[in-house]
Amino acid sequence: MTAHRFAIAIMAAGKGTRLKSKRPKVLHTVAGKPLLQHVIDAALQVVTAKEIFVIVGHQAEMVQQALAHTGATFVLQAEQKGTGHAIQCLAPFVAGFDNLLVLSGDVPLITAETITRLRNFHLKQKAAMTILTSRPENPFGYGRVIRAIPVSADTDVPDPEVEAIIEQKALTPAQQNVPEINTGIYAFRTQPLFAQIGKLTTSNPHAEYYLTEMAAILRRAGERVVALEASNATEVLGANTIEEMMQLDAAMRMATARRWMAEGVSIFRPETCVIDADVTIGADTTLEPYVQLLGKTRVGENCCIRSHSVVQNSTLGDNVLVRNGCVLDEAEVGDGAFLGPYAHLRSESRIGKAAHIGNFVETKSATVGDGSKANHLTYLGNAEIGAGCNIGAGVITCNYDGVNKHPTKIGDGVFVGSDATLVAPVKLADGAYVAAGSCITDDVPADALALGRARQINKPDWARKRRAERKK
Ligand code: UD1
Ligand code: CA
Repeated sequence: MTAHRFAIAIMAAGKGTRLKSKRPKVLHTVAGKPLLQHVIDAALQVVTAKEIFVIVGHQAEMVQQALAHTGATFVLQAEQKGTGHAIQCLAPFVAGFDNLLVLSGDVPLITAETITRLRNFHLKQKAAMTILTSRPENPFGYGRVIRAIPVSADTDVPDPEVEAIIEQKALTPAQQNVPEINTGIYAFRTQPLFAQIGKLTTSNPHAEYYLTEMAAILRRAGERVVALEASNATEVLGANTIEEMMQLDAAMRMATARRWMAEGVSIFRPETCVIDADVTIGADTTLEPYVQLLGKTRVGENCCIRSHSVVQNSTLGDNVLVRNGCVLDEAEVGDGAFLGPYAHLRSESRIGKAAHIGNFVETKSATVGDGSKANHLTYLGNAEIGAGCNIGAGVITCNYDGVNKHPTKIGDGVFVGSDATLVAPVKLADGAYVAAGSCITDDVPADALALGRARQINKPDWARKRRAERKK
């Protein structure tokens, strides 16, 4: 069987009229990834990038640019004259392959297992065309699969032969009740496909070349056309409208949540959480309701992420506590660190082991050493902070002079009193101590005390005299 060479075609040239969007349909995202990326990712688990051909047309350049990194070949369908025409455009590229699997760029939940099952069934059936079908709750809008021998209760192993696929608009009243739909995913033997594809016509309500018509055409040519029903109807749902996309998004996110729950992650109210496809989470971690883990985020074991935190492209070690309302983007957080509530870790924030970043603390291009604490109301930008430091409430690194950014370097074991402003570039060496309320403009040597504030004056009796004055 391995001698049979398969190419995978992905149809992604259509306009997506029903979306009413300026963006191409296949670049709309569900579960944090463009539709087309989901389909290519599934295909890449079955064949190599060299064997994947993506048919692009509407806003082709934008689609190609967004997915160029996948290594797939892009084939232009300059005018979108239908799904049949899309495959005609592909002919010169796949001549060397015995078989062609066709996927739709707008059926994004398809899995590698189902593609593989379709391929194996197609070979075993020695079919010219194998149609992946399903029986969704609501078949309206889909093409229906008309079986040659209807599936009935008294046939144990029914012959899977198919007579035709009829599009919604062409259904006879009796065919309206056919529950089995065409998923838009097929396997073809390339020789009969391209020998017969020239017979497609545009005599249908949309005046397009329908790939679905190949079922009847091949059958008339004496070829075998069969159907394989997908084991999961949700997996093969199409996304033609925003509402359908949101339903797929919810289904996919729920499936992702279930996968992580099976790996030992506790997810409270999973339907409220967003976990992107490429996120990883360690066992014994807890996610509270309304948590979002996005992009390439990695969360270690036994962490707790409290409600309303959004973590994007960040790495969290083990035993990390993210309290409510934190926003992390491109941050690295060491084992046992505590964050928030309401901390904002922006790009290039590196928080050490057991460090604390507390309420209303913002970090950007900042390294905070192991065990260091910045617990309240602080901004740390372009800062390098050693281990075991205490950064008091309201400390600000003044890193920006209106033109350039400047660094603040803080050694180990440094104490910065509350409300100090550190005017960069500036260095506080190991063990230095900055008095509260200081404005630090010069470097502080190791173990020194820096006082950078006006000396206090007390005026005896001043307040009492003023009160007396006012009463007159
Ligand atoms: C198609 C099937 C229908 C099936 C449904 C499953 C046809 C005629 N109908 O209908 O039987 O039930 O999918 O989801 O095929 N495309 C191109 N070039 C074109 C036109 C479309 O590449 O000229 C691409 C689209 O970008 C899309 C895919 O082909 O990714 C399917 O096209 P779409 O117009 O969405 O077909 P449906 O009406 O959903
Ligand atoms: Ca569609």
